[in-house]
Amino acid sequence: MLAAAGDLVELLDVIPERLWYDTGPGSGVRFHVVDGAIAELEECAAGRLVSGHGIGLSLPSDMPLDTELLDTIAELHDRVEFAWYSEHLSSFATMRGAVPNAQAGLGLPVPYDRDVLDFLAVKVTQVQDRLGVRLLMENPALFTPVPDPEMSETEFLNALASRTGCGILLDLHNLYANVRNELVDADQYLAALDLDHVVEIHLAGGSELFGTYTDSHAELTPAPVWELAETWAPSMPALRAIVFEFHESAVDRLGVPALVEEMGRVNELVDRCARPAPAALVGAV
Ligand SMILES: [Fe+2]
Repeated sequence: MLAAAGDLVELLDVIPERLWYDTGPGSGVRFHVVDGAIAELEECAAGRLVSGHGIGLSLPSDMPLDTELLDTIAELHDRVEFAWYSEHLSSFATMRGAVPNAQAGLGLPVPYDRDVLDFLAVKVTQVQDRLGVRLLMENPALFTPVPDPEMSETEFLNALASRTGCGILLDLHNLYANVRNELVDADQYLAALDLDHVVEIHLAGGSELFGTYTDSHAELTPAPVWELAETWAPSMPALRAIVFEFHESAVDRLGVPALVEEMGRVNELVDRCARPAPAALVGAV
Protein backbone atom coordinates (compact mmCIF):
# COMPACT_ATOMS: atom_id res chain seq x y z
CA MET A 1 0.00 0.00 0.00
CA LEU A 2 2.71 2.46 1.02
CA ALA A 3 4.90 1.50 -1.94
CA ALA A 4 1.97 2.08 -4.28
CA ALA A 5 0.75 5.31 -2.67
CA GLY A 6 4.20 6.89 -2.19
CA ASP A 7 4.02 10.64 -1.59
CA LEU A 8 0.23 10.56 -1.25
CA VAL A 9 0.74 9.29 2.31
CA GLU A 10 2.36 11.88 4.56
CA LEU A 11 1.46 10.49 7.99
CA LEU A 12 0.94 7.11 9.60
CA ASP A 13 -1.62 6.92 12.40
CA VAL A 14 -0.35 4.00 14.44
CA ILE A 15 -2.13 1.84 17.02
CA PRO A 16 0.58 1.25 19.66
CA GLU A 17 -1.27 -1.68 21.22
CA ARG A 18 -0.74 -3.62 17.98
CA LEU A 19 3.02 -3.52 18.54
CA TRP A 20 3.21 -5.60 21.72
CA TYR A 21 1.49 -8.34 23.67
CA ASP A 22 -0.06 -7.23 26.96
CA THR A 23 -0.47 -10.02 29.48
CA GLY A 24 -2.32 -7.74 31.89
CA PRO A 25 -1.57 -6.01 35.20
CA GLY A 26 0.05 -8.09 37.89
CA SER A 27 1.44 -10.65 35.48
CA GLY A 28 5.15 -10.06 36.01
CA VAL A 29 6.72 -8.78 32.82
CA ARG A 30 3.52 -7.38 31.39
CA PHE A 31 4.44 -6.06 27.93
CA HIS A 32 6.22 -8.11 25.28
CA VAL A 33 7.20 -5.64 22.61
CA VAL A 34 7.46 -6.99 19.05
CA ASP A 35 10.72 -5.39 17.97
CA GLY A 36 10.30 -6.52 14.37
CA ALA A 37 6.98 -4.70 14.10
CA ILE A 38 8.50 -1.50 15.46
CA ALA A 39 11.46 -1.81 13.10
CA GLU A 40 9.02 -2.16 10.18
CA LEU A 41 7.11 0.88 11.41
CA GLU A 42 10.35 2.90 11.62
CA GLU A 43 11.14 1.90 8.05
CA CYS A 44 7.65 2.87 6.79
CA ALA A 45 7.71 6.12 8.77
CA ALA A 46 10.93 7.44 7.19
CA GLY A 47 10.09 10.84 5.73
CA ARG A 48 6.58 10.78 7.17
CA LEU A 49 4.88 12.06 10.32
CA VAL A 50 3.69 9.51 12.85
CA SER A 51 0.79 9.95 15.26
CA GLY A 52 -0.34 7.50 17.91
CA HIS A 53 -3.92 6.28 17.87
CA GLY A 54 -4.50 4.35 21.09
CA ILE A 55 -7.20 1.85 21.89
CA GLY A 56 -6.06 0.71 25.32
CA LEU A 57 -6.18 3.54 27.83
CA SER A 58 -10.00 3.60 27.95
CA LEU A 59 -9.86 7.04 29.54
CA PRO A 60 -13.64 7.48 30.10
CA SER A 61 -13.80 4.29 32.20
CA ASP A 62 -14.15 5.19 35.88
CA MET A 63 -10.89 3.42 36.73
CA PRO A 64 -7.40 4.68 37.58
CA LEU A 65 -5.20 5.61 34.63
CA ASP A 66 -3.24 2.58 33.41
CA THR A 67 0.20 4.09 34.05
CA GLU A 68 2.05 0.89 33.07
CA LEU A 69 0.47 1.05 29.62
CA LEU A 70 1.12 4.79 29.43
CA ASP A 71 4.81 4.21 30.27
CA THR A 72 5.04 1.65 27.46
CA ILE A 73 3.42 4.10 25.04
CA ALA A 74 5.92 6.75 26.19
CA GLU A 75 8.80 4.37 25.41
CA LEU A 76 7.44 3.89 21.88
CA HIS A 77 7.03 7.68 21.58
CA ASP A 78 10.76 7.99 22.42
CA ARG A 79 11.53 5.78 19.41
CA VAL A 80 9.09 7.01 16.75
CA GLU A 81 8.21 10.53 18.00
CA PHE A 82 4.45 10.98 17.81
CA ALA A 83 3.36 14.36 16.47
CA TRP A 84 0.30 13.95 18.72
CA TYR A 85 -1.60 11.13 20.40
CA SER A 86 -5.30 10.26 20.17
CA GLU A 87 -7.71 8.13 22.16
CA HIS A 88 -11.42 7.38 22.03
CA LEU A 89 -14.31 8.95 23.89
CA SER A 90 -15.61 5.43 24.62
CA SER A 91 -15.08 2.90 27.38
CA PHE A 92 -13.33 -0.28 26.34
CA ALA A 93 -12.22 -1.49 29.78
CA THR A 94 -14.66 -2.37 32.51
CA MET A 95 -14.34 -3.58 36.08
CA ARG A 96 -15.53 -7.17 36.29
CA GLY A 97 -15.11 -9.05 39.54
CA ALA A 98 -11.45 -9.62 40.31
CA VAL A 99 -10.35 -8.66 36.78
CA PRO A 100 -9.34 -5.00 36.79
CA ASN A 101 -9.39 -4.39 33.06
CA ALA A 102 -11.83 -6.75 31.38
CA GLN A 103 -12.35 -5.78 27.73
CA ALA A 104 -15.89 -4.85 26.72
CA GLY A 105 -15.27 -6.02 23.13
CA LEU A 106 -16.51 -2.78 21.59
CA GLY A 107 -16.64 0.84 22.63
CA LEU A 108 -19.33 1.47 25.23
CA PRO A 109 -21.00 4.89 25.29
CA VAL A 110 -20.00 7.50 27.85
CA PRO A 111 -22.51 9.26 30.11
CA TYR A 112 -21.91 12.92 29.30
CA ASP A 113 -22.13 14.46 32.76
CA ARG A 114 -20.05 16.62 35.09
CA ASP A 115 -18.64 13.73 37.14
CA VAL A 116 -17.23 12.00 34.05
CA LEU A 117 -15.95 15.30 32.68
CA ASP A 118 -14.11 15.96 35.96
CA PHE A 119 -12.23 12.66 36.17
CA LEU A 120 -11.64 12.47 32.43
CA ALA A 121 -10.10 15.96 32.42
CA VAL A 122 -7.63 14.85 35.11
CA LYS A 123 -6.62 11.77 33.08
CA VAL A 124 -6.33 13.72 29.83
CA THR A 125 -3.95 16.14 31.57
CA GLN A 126 -1.91 13.24 33.01
CA VAL A 127 -1.50 11.72 29.52
CA GLN A 128 -0.51 15.05 27.94
CA ASP A 129 2.01 15.71 30.74
CA ARG A 130 3.55 12.22 30.45
CA LEU A 131 3.83 12.20 26.65
CA GLY A 132 4.57 15.89 26.16
CA VAL A 133 2.33 16.07 23.10
CA ARG A 134 -1.28 17.07 22.61
CA LEU A 135 -3.91 14.42 23.20
CA LEU A 136 -6.90 14.32 20.84
CA MET A 137 -10.18 12.73 21.87
CA GLU A 138 -12.25 11.04 19.16
CA ASN A 139 -16.04 11.20 18.89
CA PRO A 140 -17.46 7.66 19.03
CA ALA A 141 -19.75 5.54 16.89
CA LEU A 142 -22.70 4.89 19.18
CA PHE A 143 -24.74 1.72 19.09
CA THR A 144 -27.10 2.66 21.88
CA PRO A 145 -28.16 5.98 23.35
CA VAL A 146 -27.50 6.85 27.00
CA PRO A 147 -30.83 8.15 28.35
CA ASP A 148 -31.15 11.71 29.72
CA PRO A 149 -27.55 12.93 29.37
CA GLU A 150 -26.65 16.02 31.33
CA MET A 151 -24.75 17.39 28.32
CA SER A 152 -24.76 16.77 24.58
CA GLU A 153 -21.67 15.12 23.10
CA THR A 154 -20.59 18.42 21.52
CA GLU A 155 -20.99 20.29 24.82
CA PHE A 156 -18.92 17.59 26.53
CA LEU A 157 -16.14 17.63 23.92
CA ASN A 158 -16.04 21.43 23.79
CA ALA A 159 -15.78 21.61 27.59
CA LEU A 160 -13.09 18.91 27.76
CA ALA A 161 -11.02 20.65 25.08
CA SER A 162 -11.22 24.10 26.63
CA ARG A 163 -10.52 22.79 30.13
CA THR A 164 -7.48 20.62 29.26
CA GLY A 165 -6.15 22.05 26.00
CA CYS A 166 -6.68 18.68 24.33
CA GLY A 167 -7.75 18.58 20.70
CA ILE A 168 -10.65 16.85 18.98
CA LEU A 169 -10.28 14.00 16.52
CA LEU A 170 -13.43 14.34 14.44
CA ASP A 171 -14.35 10.98 12.94
CA LEU A 172 -16.85 11.93 10.26
CA HIS A 173 -17.65 8.29 9.57
CA ASN A 174 -18.49 7.69 13.24
CA LEU A 175 -20.76 10.73 13.02
CA TYR A 176 -22.33 9.30 9.86
CA ALA A 177 -22.86 5.93 11.60
CA ASN A 178 -24.73 7.78 14.35
CA VAL A 179 -26.84 9.53 11.71
CA ARG A 180 -27.59 6.19 10.02
CA ASN A 181 -28.57 4.75 13.40
CA GLU A 182 -30.84 7.77 13.97
CA LEU A 183 -29.02 9.10 17.03
CA VAL A 184 -27.90 12.53 15.77
CA ASP A 185 -28.18 15.13 13.00
CA ALA A 186 -24.78 15.70 11.36
CA ASP A 187 -25.14 19.37 10.46
CA GLN A 188 -26.52 20.29 13.89
CA TYR A 189 -23.66 18.34 15.49
CA LEU A 190 -21.00 20.09 13.41
CA ALA A 191 -22.56 23.52 13.96
CA ALA A 192 -22.40 22.92 17.74
CA LEU A 193 -18.84 21.54 17.82
CA ASP A 194 -16.04 24.03 18.44
CA LEU A 195 -14.17 23.52 15.16
CA ASP A 196 -11.15 25.46 16.47
CA HIS A 197 -10.22 22.33 18.47
CA VAL A 198 -10.35 19.86 15.57
CA VAL A 199 -6.81 18.71 14.76
CA GLU A 200 -7.50 15.50 12.84
CA ILE A 201 -10.35 14.11 10.74
CA HIS A 202 -11.06 10.43 10.19
CA LEU A 203 -12.69 9.11 7.05
CA ALA A 204 -13.71 5.46 6.73
CA GLY A 205 -16.42 3.13 5.47
CA GLY A 206 -18.71 0.80 7.38
CA SER A 207 -21.21 -2.02 7.04
CA GLU A 208 -24.65 -3.11 8.16
CA LEU A 209 -24.70 -5.73 10.90
CA PHE A 210 -28.08 -7.07 12.08
CA GLY A 211 -29.86 -3.82 11.21
CA THR A 212 -27.21 -1.52 12.73
CA TYR A 213 -24.69 0.44 10.68
CA THR A 214 -21.21 -0.12 12.11
CA ASP A 215 -17.83 1.55 11.78
CA SER A 216 -16.26 -1.64 10.41
CA HIS A 217 -13.59 0.19 8.37
CA ALA A 218 -14.15 -2.46 5.71
CA GLU A 219 -15.25 -0.16 2.86
CA LEU A 220 -14.21 3.00 1.06
CA THR A 221 -15.55 6.32 2.37
CA PRO A 222 -19.25 6.64 1.42
CA ALA A 223 -20.54 9.68 -0.49
CA PRO A 224 -22.35 11.38 2.47
CA VAL A 225 -19.11 11.30 4.51
CA TRP A 226 -17.16 12.89 1.66
CA GLU A 227 -19.87 15.54 1.45
CA LEU A 228 -19.48 16.35 5.17
CA ALA A 229 -15.70 16.44 4.85
CA GLU A 230 -15.72 18.67 1.77
CA THR A 231 -18.24 21.04 3.33
CA TRP A 232 -16.76 21.36 6.81
CA ALA A 233 -13.00 20.59 6.69
CA PRO A 234 -11.98 23.87 5.00
CA SER A 235 -13.35 25.82 8.00
CA MET A 236 -11.24 24.06 10.64
CA PRO A 237 -8.29 26.38 11.38
CA ALA A 238 -6.24 23.92 13.48
CA LEU A 239 -6.67 20.91 11.17
CA ARG A 240 -3.38 19.05 10.70
CA ALA A 241 -4.41 15.71 9.24
CA ILE A 242 -7.07 13.84 7.30
CA VAL A 243 -6.77 10.11 7.86
CA PHE A 244 -8.48 7.31 5.98
CA GLU A 245 -8.96 4.33 8.29
CA PHE A 246 -9.24 0.84 6.87
CA HIS A 247 -8.99 -2.59 8.36
CA GLU A 248 -6.20 -4.81 7.08
CA SER A 249 -8.66 -7.66 6.40
CA ALA A 250 -10.39 -5.45 3.80
CA VAL A 251 -7.30 -4.70 1.74
CA ASP A 252 -7.44 -7.71 -0.57
CA ARG A 253 -11.12 -7.20 -1.32
CA LEU A 254 -10.93 -3.42 -1.83
CA GLY A 255 -7.66 -3.69 -3.76
CA VAL A 256 -4.60 -1.47 -3.49
CA PRO A 257 -5.50 0.63 -6.59
CA ALA A 258 -8.81 1.67 -4.98
CA LEU A 259 -7.01 2.58 -1.75
CA VAL A 260 -4.46 4.64 -3.65
CA GLU A 261 -7.29 6.43 -5.45
CA GLU A 262 -8.84 7.17 -2.03
CA MET A 263 -5.51 8.69 -0.93
CA GLY A 264 -5.58 10.86 -4.07
CA ARG A 265 -9.00 12.16 -3.15
CA VAL A 266 -7.89 12.87 0.43
CA ASN A 267 -4.98 14.89 -0.99
CA GLU A 268 -7.38 16.93 -3.15
CA LEU A 269 -9.37 17.75 -0.02
CA VAL A 270 -6.19 18.65 1.89
CA ASP A 271 -5.36 21.14 -0.86
CA ARG A 272 -8.69 22.89 -0.25
CA CYS A 273 -8.23 23.17 3.52
CA ALA A 274 -6.94 26.03 5.62
CA ARG A 275 -3.24 26.85 5.75
CA PRO A 276 -0.83 25.80 7.13
CA ALA A 277 -1.31 22.76 4.96
CA PRO A 278 -2.32 19.64 6.86
CA ALA A 279 -0.75 16.32 6.08
CA ALA A 280 -2.70 13.80 4.05
CA LEU A 281 -2.73 10.64 5.97
CA VAL A 282 -3.42 7.01 5.95
CA GLY A 283 -4.30 5.09 9.07
CA ALA A 284 -4.77 1.54 10.09
CA VAL A 285 -8.04 0.06 11.34
FE1 LIG B 1 -11.71 6.87 13.86
